[in-house]
Amino acid sequence: MDHEKYSYVDSLRWLANKYGIEIEETFASDEQKQQIRVADSLYIINSFAQQFFTTTLFETEEGRDIGLSYLKERGFREDIIKKFQLGYNPEARDSFAKAAIAGQYNSELLLKTGLVVTRNDQLTDNYRGRVIFPVHNHSGKILGFGARILKTNDKAPKYINTPENEIYVKSKILYGSYFARMAIDKADECLLVEGYTDVISLHQAGIENVVASGGTSLTLDQLRLVRKYSNNLTIIYDGDAAGVKAALRGLDLALEEGLNVKLVLIPDKEDPDSYVNNVGASAFNEFVRSHKKDFILFQLEVELKDAGADTIKKSEVVNNIAETISKINKAEDFTKQQDYIKQCSQILKIDESGLHALVNKFIRNRISTQEKALPPDRYRDEEVRSHEENAQKAAATDYDDTTFNLLFKDELQEKEFARVLLEHGNKKWNGGTIADHMLDEILDEQLFDSADVVKLINVYKTVLKNENIKPDKNFFVYHSDPAISSFTVSLLNFPYEASEHWKREFSSSTGYQQRLFEQSYEDFLRSVSVGNETELMTFLKMDEDKTHVEVESALNYLKLCKIKRMMLENQVDLEKKHTPEEYQNLAQTHEHLKQMEKEISDKLGAVIIK
Ligand code: CTP
Ligand code: MN
Repeated sequence: MDHEKYSYVDSLRWLANKYGIEIEETFASDEQKQQIRVADSLYIINSFAQQFFTTTLFETEEGRDIGLSYLKERGFREDIIKKFQLGYNPEARDSFAKAAIAGQYNSELLLKTGLVVTRNDQLTDNYRGRVIFPVHNHSGKILGFGARILKTNDKAPKYINTPENEIYVKSKILYGSYFARMAIDKADECLLVEGYTDVISLHQAGIENVVASGGTSLTLDQLRLVRKYSNNLTIIYDGDAAGVKAALRGLDLALEEGLNVKLVLIPDKEDPDSYVNNVGASAFNEFVRSHKKDFILFQLEVELKDAGADTIKKSEVVNNIAETISKINKAEDFTKQQDYIKQCSQILKIDESGLHALVNKFIRNRISTQEKALPPDRYRDEEVRSHEENAQKAAATDYDDTTFNLLFKDELQEKEFARVLLEHGNKKWNGGTIADHMLDEILDEQLFDSADVVKLINVYKTVLKNENIKPDKNFFVYHSDPAISSFTVSLLNFPYEASEHWKREFSSSTGYQQRLFEQSYEDFLRSVSVGNETELMTFLKMDEDKTHVEVESALNYLKLCKIKRMMLENQVDLEKKHTPEEYQNLAQTHEHLKQMEKEISDKLGAVIIK
């Protein structure tokens, strides 16, 4: 399995084949058995055809004069032509068809392979006068062919490819994978190009970890095939607009599959085939190495350039990129996601925490859409709708730092408040419970934006009055109102599950702090006034019971949010016309709020930037 990169079943088949053991596929239905029989026959015909085409290429006058000389003129060496089993189909009406009929191959199956077609009730060669590129599966069996025209002819297509059949399923094929798989494994990188000739030329130049998509955008199956060999995918496409567009398509799928995608655009109307022939292998390698662009950042650049000074378009760009980043959603890619948020917010010149929140929003949206696929549930549907409304609201907003903060940050802090309440509410504190303390501190629920949080707090208060029930986590997780239970579950994973990496690297409390602060790790270090990780660890060890820190942080950050919002609203008010008295009032309010802000941020030890 390891050596050939086969699946378990494929390995068994390979071994059985090698030692002439018959494998009985006991679980196949009659229909499946029939399909397997057809598939086997198609492989046999394709193998026969390949031999016919190769023999024709090397051993007939027409093959040598037309096919072989064309390939050699393009610069393909004979050993490479043989390795890729290239061939030639003669000009005559039915050279191949005749040979196939003489070999007693079934005409119905022959038609299925696309090697022949019926003209005037007779089997006629489909690839007349074309050079043939066999397409191998990952174990070297021939799935089908690409047949390239030699002359320039406006009417005839440049390539004729095998039609979809039992074995040729275009969306699952990566041309060259059979020849590339070991090299991909060794380099831990898969290069992706568009065409047959690109693969072969690079291979000839000693760059063997290369496959082709066949000129269309990547499918999920193809990406999964890549990932079997390596997590690093480098797409090498023509630098023209079409090439760029083609490259960008399918990106989200690649991210979802956890692939690291890089992009290299080949300059000046060249493709990898012509470029490597022009500059040679080492210059090509150097070009790829120095022009590799990160895919997400590249997409951002392209979209930003498109948007120009148009603010509406720019907010679309922000949304798009947040959605793209949200697709990096595997736990092990947590750090990668954080890096992207940081880099993209810098490029976009927007608040990092705002982008962070927006990304989380997309993640939550997707989760609730996935839940939607579950059996209908009135409450859940409502929740989904509200998520969708939020997303729309977000999409319609012009994002400057302030709206970002207003839109998203409050909700995050409210949820964090609710989470801490559920997590620690029952613990003792100053003669009462933490819940008493927390609920005392927030005087006015009117300040809360999240209807979910308000509802949860109200239920919590009711339960507190009832001496028979203890409002612990489980009470809410198993609450009879499914809206409350599902909200609780989402809270306890809020805002995203800490990755394993994160847990390993830092104590859970640090992870928590990071989530709470919604800021970069460096900013976090700065905000807790410690210089480096070692100091940070000491800082955390000194504080054995972190409950206190969590509760106070949750409260203070929530307050800070609300104060900031009031200051903003106040500021908006200030800009309107006022009587001197009103004006003085507003100014006083502003001073007062500013004072409160300072006190709280001093408590938090945080650096308040705005
Ligand atoms: N392709 C196809 N059908 C076409 C044109 C293209 O299937 N009519 C696919 C082929 O897999 C081809 C790839 O798209 O290899 C890239 O197309 P193109 O760049 O036009 O062809 P090249 O492979 O570069 O061939 P050449 O260098 O001979 O022009
Ligand atoms: Mn080409």
